[in-house]
Amino acid sequence: MASQVSPPSINMAPKADGFASILAIGRANPKNFIEQSTFPDFFFRVTNTEHMVDLKKKFQRICDKTSIRKRHFIWNEELLTANPSLCTFMGNSLNLRHEVAVREIPKLGAEAATKAIQEWGQPKSFITHLVFCTTSGMDLPGADYQLTQILGLNLDIERVMLHQQGCFLGGTTLRLAKYLAESRKGARVLVVCAETTTEFFRAPSEEHQEDLVTQSLFGDGASALIVGADPHEGARERASFILVSSSQVLLANSAHAITGHVSEGGIKATLHRDVPQIISNNLGKCLEEAFTPLGISDWNSIFWVLHPGGRAILDQVEEKMGLEPEKLLISRHVLLEYGNMSSVCVHFALDEMRKRSSNEGKATTGEGLEWGVLFGFGPGLTIETVVLRSVSIS
Ligand code: CAA
Repeated sequence: MASQVSPPSINMAPKADGFASILAIGRANPKNFIEQSTFPDFFFRVTNTEHMVDLKKKFQRICDKTSIRKRHFIWNEELLTANPSLCTFMGNSLNLRHEVAVREIPKLGAEAATKAIQEWGQPKSFITHLVFCTTSGMDLPGADYQLTQILGLNLDIERVMLHQQGCFLGGTTLRLAKYLAESRKGARVLVVCAETTTEFFRAPSEEHQEDLVTQSLFGDGASALIVGADPHEGARERASFILVSSSQVLLANSAHAITGHVSEGGIKATLHRDVPQIISNNLGKCLEEAFTPLGISDWNSIFWVLHPGGRAILDQVEEKMGLEPEKLLISRHVLLEYGNMSSVCVHFALDEMRKRSSNEGKATTGEGLEWGVLFGFGPGLTIETVVLRSVSIS
């Protein structure tokens, strides 16, 4: 049985006894959403580019292939029409984009965090660490500071702010939370990821057709998790997934594949056509390194949480790894309902998996299986691998 959580003595505490686990998950999306089937009409109308008929047809073709049903956004049509610089291609607009992101990111993060804290059921004064991650809205003091103010967290919680890294942070935040939670008995880490397309949205351009893929994929959302070791059962803390091991690797010669450059026109992301191939060619090695020590080599015997970066990535990973179609259903569901929300996606998938497993009467939070893998990936190319162990559903 775990010892009593005692925040005042946290700095003196010895290491935790067991592995860190996820004790609660919260999520949030802006109210405004747009159906993918209507997005091309909206996009060309609001950017006054209806005359680019062929480009619109191409954008429609791309949207049709994304396997996305809807995406949520912090921005809305009113904001775009009131601020025409957001509806040009790379016109000077960073100040405005930045202002919106700085204002909205902490609020969206706080909404998800409030839900996670509610589910956790412990006093928020028991939170000892905060890991906040976002690709947008750099500011001083940052979104981590704003969140402590909105939620009224202790002033002495230890904060880590991660900016401008990209989608693999969904895995990185779990890795950091694991290290922090296991480093001191009683540590409770609040992880918050909040992402927005406010710095990406722009008009289409004949000369930069690659940007259409970015415009078709990304959406806004926030996730929050409470991570801690040795759940205090007396206080009704319950683990949903145990974070068994974690690792990060850079793939050689792939720096070109996913990039995002900040300039006065906002963040311009470029997604090379070979992203799905590079990712799917490299996951096998990550799996072998992570699971050989556990004696596991059948990738259909574990549950999967793969960052749904794009439909083609899911398709190619499924094919190369020889996965049964149901293995990536949860990742496909998150892509379908929300688009690519960068770091947030894998946390939504974890939440979806534990809830579905429970609703479908499965024996464990991991679709009835014991072991699972979570993959984040992004610029570098960087791959984050987290080995998960499910818990039984009583
Ligand atoms: N760049 C530019 N154009 C592209 C493209 C790319 N990467 N991929 C596809 N296209 C174009 C094609 O040329 C084609 O144009 P035409 O119709 O004019 O011929 C059109 O898009 C549709 O392509 P396909 O018919 O080949 O359709 P598809 O099956 O490839 O589906 C897609 C299109 C949904 C975009 C799919 O390619 C996909 O999912 N790609 C992966 C996207 C990706 O890289 N995601 C990673 C995001 S980054 C991330 O998650 C991490 C982070 O840190 C931000």
